[in-house]
Amino acid sequence: MPYRSLARLRKWSTGKKTFVVLLAGFAISIVVLILTATTLVYTSTEAFCSSSCHEMNNNAMEYKGTVHDKNRTGVRATCPDCHIPHSPVPLYIRKMGAVHDLWGHFVSHSIDTREKFLDKRQELAERVWIYMKENDSRECRHCHTAAKMDPERQSEKAQLRHARGRKEKLTCIDCHFAIAHDEPAGPGPQELEVDKSLISKGAIF
Ligand code: HEC
Ligand code: HEC
Ligand code: HEC
Repeated sequence: MPYRSLARLRKWSTGKKTFVVLLAGFAISIVVLILTATTLVYTSTEAFCSSSCHEMNNNAMEYKGTVHDKNRTGVRATCPDCHIPHSPVPLYIRKMGAVHDLWGHFVSHSIDTREKFLDKRQELAERVWIYMKENDSRECRHCHTAAKMDPERQSEKAQLRHARGRKEKLTCIDCHFAIAHDEPAGPGPQELEVDKSLISKGAIF
């Protein structure tokens, strides 16, 4: 039996048709690969994040002029820098999570008006906080290397709080929230009872 199938495979693999089929398969894979890579890159740009859907206008307007948008040196952190992981596997998981956001945009219209957005804001913020608490503020640390922050050059307040933060095992987002957007009215990350149903692999809606 195995011998028979082997013989059949051998016959098939020497045929001319096989070559054409393999070549077509190869060509299709290349096209799919290029489309996937392009989508990943395009959906991770500031332009895409802040203008592809009106749901993001609220957050984009608030971010304008904050220290991560405009500062003395012009080194910036844009939407994807804080909201999209920088290593492959977490990036793919995050992108799958974005299906949630597409659902919110096209189907459930969960935050398509300013009122709905404000009503839901605490929950949306909590999703981001929980995500950042769970990964020890990984996206912040992509730029801010804690071990290379020179206390000598920081304000006294920053030195004291950073020492306290290390002792109490707090992560950046515990203290530095609402740095890019307005602060929601409810409890902040430190008072947060982690609600597991809000864990979303990085999707926000
Ligand atoms: C893409 C890189 C990048 C990412 C990601 C990033 N930052 Fe920053 N951050 C900067 C730069 C650059 C500055 C300094 C801007 C300046 O003053 O020149 C800064 C400044 C700061 C400051 C000082 C603010 C002030 O008023 O002086 C804090 C606090 C801070 N970031 C916290 C965070 C936190 C928390 C996160 C994650 C949620 C984060 N950053 C993500 C690049 C980044
Ligand atoms: C326990 C709370 C706490 C934690 C945790 C914490 N910070 Fe801070 N951080 C502060 C305070 C308070 C300041 C001073 C803010 C001020 O002067 O208004 C500060 C200041 C800063 C500044 C500006 C320094 C300066 O002198 O201008 C940066 C940058 C910063 N933090 C980054 C981070 C990063 C990155 C993390 C995570 C690795 C982190 N912080 C964790 C409380 C904290
Ligand atoms: C410096 C990091 C940083 C940058 C840059 C940033 N965000 Fe955020 N974003 C956060 C954090 C942290 C939260 C959680 C709530 C909070 O602390 O403000 C958040 C929350 C959100 C939320 C949930 C609603 C809310 O206000 O809590 C949305 C939507 C969002 N961001 C979209 C964006 C878009 C769009 C951009 C670019 C125009 C952007 N963010 C830029 C850090 C960032």
